[in-house]
Amino acid sequence: MRVLFVTSEAYPLVKTGGLGDVSYALPNALRQLGIDVRLLIPGYPEVLKQLSLIEVHENIRLYPLDEPIHLLAGIMPGEITPVYVIKCPSLYERDGGPYQDTEGKDWVDNALRFGILSKVAALFGHHQLLFKPQIVHCNDWQTGLVPALLTFHPNPNTRTVMSVHNMAYQGLFGSELIDEFGLPPESFSLSGLEYYGKVSFLKAGLSYSDWITTVSPNYAKDIQTPAYGCGLEGLLTQRQTHLTGILNGIDTKVWNPETDQHLSRHYTIKSLAAKARNTQALRSQFKLASSKQIPLIGIIARLIDQKGIDLVVPIIPDIIKAGAQLVILGSGDKNLELSLLQLAKHYPKQLSVTLGYDEKLAHQIEAGANMFLMPSRFEPCGLNQMYSMYYGTIPIVRRTGGLADTVVDASSEHIQNKTATGFVFENSDELFSCIQRALQIFRHKKIWQQLQITGMSRDFSWQKSARQYISLYHQL
Ligand code: ADP
Ligand code: GLC
Repeated sequence: MRVLFVTSEAYPLVKTGGLGDVSYALPNALRQLGIDVRLLIPGYPEVLKQLSLIEVHENIRLYPLDEPIHLLAGIMPGEITPVYVIKCPSLYERDGGPYQDTEGKDWVDNALRFGILSKVAALFGHHQLLFKPQIVHCNDWQTGLVPALLTFHPNPNTRTVMSVHNMAYQGLFGSELIDEFGLPPESFSLSGLEYYGKVSFLKAGLSYSDWITTVSPNYAKDIQTPAYGCGLEGLLTQRQTHLTGILNGIDTKVWNPETDQHLSRHYTIKSLAAKARNTQALRSQFKLASSKQIPLIGIIARLIDQKGIDLVVPIIPDIIKAGAQLVILGSGDKNLELSLLQLAKHYPKQLSVTLGYDEKLAHQIEAGANMFLMPSRFEPCGLNQMYSMYYGTIPIVRRTGGLADTVVDASSEHIQNKTATGFVFENSDELFSCIQRALQIFRHKKIWQQLQITGMSRDFSWQKSARQYISLYHQL
């Protein structure tokens, strides 16, 4: 089985969030199960720098781009997954992130940048290049045009899977794109890729793919409702027989308290006491008051509406008054960043705020925190709650999407039958009382330890999910 996995980010080359983690771990898991899966990714500077590359196709002309692109190939660092890289300096080689400039503004030519990514994927799908995939596996809006391109210029031997990691990002652009990317005028319709007068890359993927997947079973249901469907719930309901939720896994080579390269103290279920050294290290790094009785709550998130950090900010004084400390790592919304910094100034011994992106610190927080807070408004899957459970760090989450699929609330029944792994609340106004519940149980060391053990013993590996993708590929 030959699969081209098309993505706009992949750890450790380039990562802004969970898609990066998935684009690394899932292909690795698929390869271990015998699938010839290869990645296709744009040639951002950090990608070109980290890979040893050879040229496999030169001077490919792709309308509407007026310069040729080159296709390079390398192998994922430390792994065996082949990676195809699109070399096109004018589109991808610039300072800033994969989607935004250094000021946090979307690149103005994103339609072209990701339209070309989609066009190259379609060339593979048309079997016009050396590698001839049977499945083109697309991820998020950046790859949404692929299913459309393959529908209107079909190859009978190629099927497409569209994986939705987040419905909230759709890739909306002007209608002139239809012509530019060689799509027929009839595609610009309600049953095609039109969305309120714009071209929606994501809708193109959802309308024209052979199968849609999303990253948790619960989110697959959520997105068929107006509350989570972002206006595409009708289309998703219509296609529900071709839509499945496959839960993400975690890469236990990268995220594992026993071997984590970013930790000074490793630990396992059997040596949980050593976790406290990581807590102590975090406290000294951020000059927080030192006490074993005070629980440390971690947050690592993109500071955007989705993650609900704006619900945490106003109750931070109450959380501190209730006897907890917080370590926060994130970046995003400037107002949120500012409010957090102000609070950190006010509570230097109880609250530390690090703005920016820091892979190492993310691992250290997962290991050092006692609890991990994720009050997301919606969450397609969420990886941090799974990392947390695997690190014996008890998640406090809202019952939504993948969070609802992965965290078992510490109700008295679940505590008694030893299935509880965290604290779950429904509505925003229950956030603080849920935190209070966690703080209370923290004092009952035996129960707390059982929550840790249950979470750390769960199988979050990619094996199971990778098998589900493989049976889907075969079915198609
Ligand atoms: P999302 O993809 O919506 O951001 P996930 O929970 O699926 O949410 O994945 C987030 C990933 O990005 C995790 O690996 C998390 O550790 C990482 N991450 C998020 N923000 C930061 C940050 N500021 N620094 C380092 N890692 C971060
Ligand atoms: C998205 C979602 C997140 C998910 C990740 C990987 O960024 O917001 O919930 O875990 O993709 O699938």
